[in-house]
Amino acid sequence: MKDEGAGLTKKVCILRLGHRPERDRRVTTHVGLTARALGAEGMYLASDDKNIKKSIEDVAGRWGGDFFVSNNVGWKRCINEWKADGGVVVHLTMYGIPMTSGIAEIKEHDKVLVVVGAEKVPSDIYGMADYNISVTTQPHSEISSLALFLDHLFDGSTLDLEFPDAELKIEPTERGKRFKD
Ligand SMILES: C[S@@+](CC[C@H](N)C(=O)[O-])C[C@H]1O[C@@H](n2cnc3c(N)ncnc32)[C@H](O)[C@@H]1O
Repeated sequence: MKDEGAGLTKKVCILRLGHRPERDRRVTTHVGLTARALGAEGMYLASDDKNIKKSIEDVAGRWGGDFFVSNNVGWKRCINEWKADGGVVVHLTMYGIPMTSGIAEIKEHDKVLVVVGAEKVPSDIYGMADYNISVTTQPHSEISSLALFLDHLFDGSTLDLEFPDAELKIEPTERGKRFKD
């Protein structure tokens, strides 16, 4: 597990589809940072963009934990290997069944691959996923849908995660900005 100290019992990773280096860097970076902050172990990037790996792992290095980014993965192979290893695959899409209906069954699994797209996802993904889940059935974004999904999957428990070996740690304060020594 990524953070045994935090007592997470689920292994969760993200598969990012359709990333276009010239357009999606900011959003894909935020997909990774959101995943890390909310308890995922790592992100598989189904595109070749070493900058994403570097920038997310740089942040993870300073803020603790050992979140990984795997660059240029074959998405079908990633899904098949995840399933062969006993995991389930949840594709976040506004066309899926409402998260409120599907989340209880998904919570029964302790190994979950969450798939998010960029512009348009390959149509095969709808059949390969174990669950196609919609967060609100309205169009919004991969960052917001991922954040809400992870929060529900972990029952809110990852909002207070502690990240081991952090160089930077915030001392929460009502006003201003403070870091722990
Ligand atoms: C900007 S959307 C692209 C939507 C695109 N029009 C399509 O047909 O797939 C990018 C990603 O955000 C996620 N997303 C957007 N709205 C969502 C929703 N309501 N529920 C779940 N995921 C959503 C999906 O993973 C989607 O692939």
